[in-house]
Amino acid sequence: MQTSSIHGMWSSRLAFILAATGSAVGLGNIWRFPYITSENGGGAFVLIYLLCILAVGLPIMFSEIVIGRRGRMSPINSIRELSDDAKATRAWMGLGFLGVIAGFIILSFYSVVAGWTLHYGFAYLKELVGMGAPITDPGETFENLLASAGELTFWHGLFMLMTVGVVAFGVEKGLERAVTILMPLLFVLLLILLGYGMNTGSFQEAVGFLFRPDWSQVSGPMIVTAMGQAFFTLSLGMCAIMTYGAYLPSDVNIPKVGTTVAISDTVVALIAGLAIFPIVISFGIDPGSGGAGLIFTSLPLAFSEMPFGIAYGMAFFLLLSVAAWTSAISLMEPATAYLVEATDLSRKAAALCVAAFAWMLGLATVFSFNIWSEVSIGGKSIMDALDYVAADVMLPIGGLLTALFAGWVLSKKITREELDEKMPDWAFNAWLWLTRIVTPALILVVLASLLGIL
Ligand code: PFF
Repeated sequence: MQTSSIHGMWSSRLAFILAATGSAVGLGNIWRFPYITSENGGGAFVLIYLLCILAVGLPIMFSEIVIGRRGRMSPINSIRELSDDAKATRAWMGLGFLGVIAGFIILSFYSVVAGWTLHYGFAYLKELVGMGAPITDPGETFENLLASAGELTFWHGLFMLMTVGVVAFGVEKGLERAVTILMPLLFVLLLILLGYGMNTGSFQEAVGFLFRPDWSQVSGPMIVTAMGQAFFTLSLGMCAIMTYGAYLPSDVNIPKVGTTVAISDTVVALIAGLAIFPIVISFGIDPGSGGAGLIFTSLPLAFSEMPFGIAYGMAFFLLLSVAAWTSAISLMEPATAYLVEATDLSRKAAALCVAAFAWMLGLATVFSFNIWSEVSIGGKSIMDALDYVAADVMLPIGGLLTALFAGWVLSKKITREELDEKMPDWAFNAWLWLTRIVTPALILVVLASLLGIL
């Protein structure tokens, strides 16, 4: 059994928790969760999403960390080794390749949206130092940004450079340092925004929208979206958490750290929702109107009224960029680790290749808002189509394969050793049968509804 990885190791249990939470908490919680909740009618969607976190997300979170730590390499090679050891087919490596492809697609549009947050952060900074005009009509400001391919490309490029800058320096020096300082700060800002939301007078209504289920809204596509969001927000299904698991010291208890990460991520999403929807409602925006611009068009309205709103707006969007940054790092890491193992490239060169490719792919998202805005793939814009294919289709398929691999290919001896040797039988068996049967079955049912079979 390998006890360390050639790519480096987390220095402690806390370092892993911060890094994995840094991966999980990002635009998925603060940008994507509110806007797709809004598009899917609120309460019922949120409850199904929470159910998916519990019944699908948690068992797969454990599985990914187990596979990663046992293999100690990039997902593709960890899976190859573990398949060989178990005398199973190497076709399982397909799971690793699927993850790498999903990672490229997600990173490509993720970086564009992170570019929006950078743009907003700097716009507030300029306003603060008296060099920029205030955002008076947030809707128009957002539209103008999307209309400018040049600006979008610039911010997308800057964000990609920031990400490659960290990944190039490797696990201890790069990733760990970035997450330890900045994640707690974002949480504090969210709590302040929550305090503001509670005082808007629309808090009750927002709570109702988020948690009072209207079951008539439930449909196949809505469940697909809820499950996709559970995967996306927990960074599961594309071997990112598996990659981080490879750098986890052997004595760390996987169920404990996995649960901590899942709970932290869920709490952040719910707080983000509770902070954002009161603002949306109190400014007369229909909470069901949705759209990827939701936070960019609603929050500036609040910032323009709050005391110190400009400074706050700046801090909020810059810290959101940081949250996106720590997630993007984990989107880039699996492919980079694989290139380092499979080629003669140094870590720096490998990370640069991954970033360059993802940046180019991201141009399709950039253009989907302006010069290619007419292009529609199955009724969706290019960005929505990329997001849909990666998050709602590829991640669940990746999750399904991960669960089956951990549950059926790895021996019970191995999984038990990795999870926690002292775990009571009932707890181990609960994980095992969830992972073997229940979770895969749930994913299959949802995927079947996607294909119109159910
Ligand atoms: N979990 C991240 C978020 O919620 O913003 C996005 C993400 C990161 C998805 C890493 C997938 C991944 F592997």
